[in-house]
Amino acid sequence: MTIQISNITDPDEMYAALKAKLGNIVPDVELFYKSRLAARINRLKQERNAVILGHNYMEPALFHSIPDFVGDSLELSRKAAQTDKDIIVFCGVRFMAETAKILNPSKTVLIPSARAGCSLAASITAEDVRRLKAQYPGVPVVTYVNTYADVKAESDICCTSSNAVMVVNSLDSDRVIFLPDEYLARNVANETGKRIIFPTRQPRQSDAQIEFEMIGWHGRCEVHEKFTVEDIRAIRKDFPDVVILAHPECSPEVVAAADFSGSTTAMMKYVERTQAPRYLLLTECSMADNIAGANPDKEMLRLCSVRCPHMNEITLEDTLLALQKTQYVVDVPPDIRERARRAVERMIAIGPVGKKD
Ligand code: 13P
Ligand code: SF4
Repeated sequence: MTIQISNITDPDEMYAALKAKLGNIVPDVELFYKSRLAARINRLKQERNAVILGHNYMEPALFHSIPDFVGDSLELSRKAAQTDKDIIVFCGVRFMAETAKILNPSKTVLIPSARAGCSLAASITAEDVRRLKAQYPGVPVVTYVNTYADVKAESDICCTSSNAVMVVNSLDSDRVIFLPDEYLARNVANETGKRIIFPTRQPRQSDAQIEFEMIGWHGRCEVHEKFTVEDIRAIRKDFPDVVILAHPECSPEVVAAADFSGSTTAMMKYVERTQAPRYLLLTECSMADNIAGANPDKEMLRLCSVRCPHMNEITLEDTLLALQKTQYVVDVPPDIRERARRAVERMIAIGPVGKKD
């Protein structure tokens, strides 16, 4: 998706454009202040020959003003691989910026905050993966892109929430190691009909007894693990006609109780192409505002105000500083980069959409 506002460098024009999109969602004083910052960022972006990539979880004023491209993890990886700009500014979290560097090593990749981590990426180390590979020799390793580069370097192929099922099905193996998100692994196991075990929780079985096909890890997204089936029951009681969408990082019980599950972009597209009286997203809460801004005719319910604290680190102020000071430069050591690149490129070659997209 291309956002034309990303070319606006005049502050008053930016204010008018943001007001048209977000006038009903963001307070006027905030829009005015942020329009000044956004116009300066777009001017500097042009002067420095930079491209800005923005994840779907960016706060509404940023999301609708400065990114040249917005999208889910997979779409942004593809854009990072294709850009001919000198600088990539990644408005997202560190593992995403690392993926951009892995795919485009000759470019300068910047992330506006050095503190934008991810609970899933922090849940596993390269040494953990090496131990699992020793425990299950020859079994292909699939890692979710929500991991750091050294973990990707230990894997055979990456996946995102939009292609995880497709990636697992593409492997010519009846067993896979799938890391590190417990819930995504269980959701993929459900969709592919595979059984799953968690070696960090269950005792190892002897090979003769093995009847599983996916080997998982215990990582969880600190945002999506908060949603419960009880939340869904309560909201359906008050709004029987609501359509509920859950990100596959939610528990399998939550996904089963929802009406649709898919990547952040798959959820956006679902809302855009359907006509329900109202929608509820079980994901980072900025996304409902971002969808409402682009689709004023859709009613988006808000269950909570859960924001990802890591995505929340990325602000317009820090993005301006990133371009002014060329900070924070994201680097990946060449040996790790090369091994990680194979896993990411293998994923990109497979295709963008999963079964439910
Ligand atoms: P998507 O790939 O669906 O955008 O998800 C990224 C993410 O971090 C979700 O929490
Ligand atoms: Fe990581 Fe969850 Fe934040 Fe996504 S929402 S970046 S998975 S902590």
